[in-house]
Amino acid sequence: MKIFVTRKIPKPGLDALQKEFTLEVNPFDRVLSKEEIIEGIKGKDGLVCLLTDPIDKEVINAEPHLKMIASYAVGYDNIDIAAATKRGIPVSNTPGVLTETTAELAWALLFSVARRIVEGDMFTREGNFKGWAPMLMLGQDVSHKTLGVIGTGRIGTAFGLKSKGFHMNVLYADEQKNEQLEKQLGAKKVSLSKLLIESDFISIHVPLTKATHHLIDEKQLHLMKKTAVLINTARGPIVNEKALVKALTGQWIFGAGLDVYENEPELSEELKKLKNVVLQPHTGSGTIETRTKMALIAAENMIIGLKGGIPPNCVNEEVFQKKPTT
Ligand code: DGY
Repeated sequence: MKIFVTRKIPKPGLDALQKEFTLEVNPFDRVLSKEEIIEGIKGKDGLVCLLTDPIDKEVINAEPHLKMIASYAVGYDNIDIAAATKRGIPVSNTPGVLTETTAELAWALLFSVARRIVEGDMFTREGNFKGWAPMLMLGQDVSHKTLGVIGTGRIGTAFGLKSKGFHMNVLYADEQKNEQLEKQLGAKKVSLSKLLIESDFISIHVPLTKATHHLIDEKQLHLMKKTAVLINTARGPIVNEKALVKALTGQWIFGAGLDVYENEPELSEELKKLKNVVLQPHTGSGTIETRTKMALIAAENMIIGLKGGIPPNCVNEEVFQKKPTT
């Protein structure tokens, strides 16, 4: 069987795929266009794709042989799951292995903003440090403050649990009660508005869906404390970037740490100029260990899926449900 891989992923994943299938890998070090992906999957049985690939209805229906899609990411908002399901194509993702890694990046951003690490680094490098000063580059304390976690799935829970050493008062907003956070931290489930009003640090961990698009808009930013810090390592369009620029420029909030952007990889020019925002190039899962595990998981899902089994991380298991006999 033949597989198309839309971008070079870590070697262990490619090696595992190569043992089982004939591989064609995007030879360029760049994101492919939709047209190039359609061309790439011609005559292929499987597609290994990235979160940057627009796997819409047109792509999914372009190749009649296509039997399996393995995404090298946990978020799959870039894939038209309904269209894949309609065609009986299982789609898999890479959950679990990137949970702690992404939660760690959220904390790295939180501290970077709270203690003005990037700004301080630039200031020092540029030769502006003339000695200790009582009012130099003052930030925000983290310990004993209120932490607000929006969305407490795997990553949100891991992020929340990591606050333990900082003795924080933890609030969370989610449809489900999170027993783990409540038992281990005494966390309280609250409405999104209450979380925004009361938290000092707010971190977003919901998937991007129609319901979460612009979940944080001008109105929500206005609810936040003037000293609050907003962290987004989930998906860019969950925050209205224009509204965030207004909030940061007008100092409605203290700062923000962003790993994702509304129109990735583009970001608004204003954002680049602001000192109270720390910007990261979508590297939530970006460690050597985690990216290698993600490659192996994507390969394992592809191998099992194309051999007729249920891929362990299938996100549309309904494709395997037997049709009722009439
Ligand atoms: C994912 O896998 O969805 C993450 O955004 C990667 O950083």
